[in-house]
Amino acid sequence: MQKTLNIAMIGCGFMGKMHSNAYSKVNSIFDLDYTACMKVACDSRDNGKVVKDFASRWHWQEMETDWRRLLDRKDIDLIDICVPNSLHREIAVASLAAGKMVCTEKPLALNAEQGAQMVEAAEKSGKKTMIWFNQRRFPSVTLAKQMIDDGALGRVFHYRGTYLQDWTISKEAPFGGPTFWRLDLKDAGSGVTGDLLAHALDVAMWLNGPIVDLSAMTETFIKERKTQADSSKVVKVEIDDAAQCMVRFANGSIGTFEASRYARGRKNANAFEINGEFGSFAFDAETPDQLKFYNHKDDSKIRGWKVISVWDSDQPYMDRWWVPGMGISYEHTFVHAAADFLADLADGKKRVPDFSDGLRTQMVCDTILASAKKGQWMKTGLT
Ligand SMILES: NC(=O)c1ccc[n+]([C@@H]2O[C@H](COP(=O)([O-])OP(=O)(O)OC[C@H]3O[C@@H](n4cnc5c(N)ncnc54)[C@H](O)[C@@H]3O)[C@@H](O)[C@H]2O)c1
Repeated sequence: MQKTLNIAMIGCGFMGKMHSNAYSKVNSIFDLDYTACMKVACDSRDNGKVVKDFASRWHWQEMETDWRRLLDRKDIDLIDICVPNSLHREIAVASLAAGKMVCTEKPLALNAEQGAQMVEAAEKSGKKTMIWFNQRRFPSVTLAKQMIDDGALGRVFHYRGTYLQDWTISKEAPFGGPTFWRLDLKDAGSGVTGDLLAHALDVAMWLNGPIVDLSAMTETFIKERKTQADSSKVVKVEIDDAAQCMVRFANGSIGTFEASRYARGRKNANAFEINGEFGSFAFDAETPDQLKFYNHKDDSKIRGWKVISVWDSDQPYMDRWWVPGMGISYEHTFVHAAADFLADLADGKKRVPDFSDGLRTQMVCDTILASAKKGQWMKTGLT
């Protein structure tokens, strides 16, 4: 019999829109035992004006401005957190204590200490959690994962990950407030390390295993900005505008990572290349339906990089979408994450990354920031 998952989503900004889109499509596209019910949208901005417009536009049944009022409601199964990073821990821990399942956006929290508290709360409650590491759910990335697990690379030697954007180059971009909270350390926890590298590191460790030690550097290019609330007030910028690091993986391979919001022309360049004994893969989220593959086992006369077009029905997730050749993109990775979460609920398997996976990435992020500060190699604590 079809079961219903009643969802309350907190935060109606960019991710609120993306998750609403995913929930509204997931049961039309996938065959699932659970139906996602868009019960309550919650946002505190502008005395309820934001949530009122949002709930009606995205067909949420009800709206709310105070997330605490959601916790005692018996008719809500899942709390979905789409608010700035500084609120993730408080909402997640309270929701788990109230017996709710919890999904949260990345990064898990402001730091690993908070993340560990969230993992502990999840273990205590026994409720299912998910962190929206949606970039794993590009069919191209999932295909690379399947082929790596099937032995396509053999021993891995190198991993190179980058996540590049360019939207904070202007020194006139304001600090803090509803649209620029990512520049405020107290709201974001870090700059590009938590915002962008968290995705790149999650994909890397999913494909290639844990990162055990690293040496990092960070830079803040624009050191003072006018605040959004009051343009006559200038404050010190404390987040990392760019981060780079060298890493060692537990499997003996070595890697480099780079993230920046100052890479002019790059909008969402979450890219990786992984090189092994038998072959290599390369991917860039700016060309999401292309997975590049070099197979050294090919006949030497025709050996070379090939571009696999990941838009056919025998490739991950693609049997559910359009006819071959009609590609999909960023928004669909969230539909896939929602589908995997609902499938997990039905059969008890673990397809989605949970809070403990989020904590592992957070530990690497924290180590990057600490290493950059100290100027030395440091262990992540992962094995
Ligand atoms: N997975 C991804 O690709 C991805 C992309 C962007 C952002 N994110 C993550 O999603 C989260 C949200 O980012 P965003 O870009 O949607 O931010 P946003 O600023 O667009 O939206 C945040 C919303 O939260 C609301 N909010 C703030 N405090 C609140 C409170 N106390 N109660 C209720 N609502 C409150 C704001 O009014 C706003 O509407 C962050 O953790 C971010 O790192 C993930």
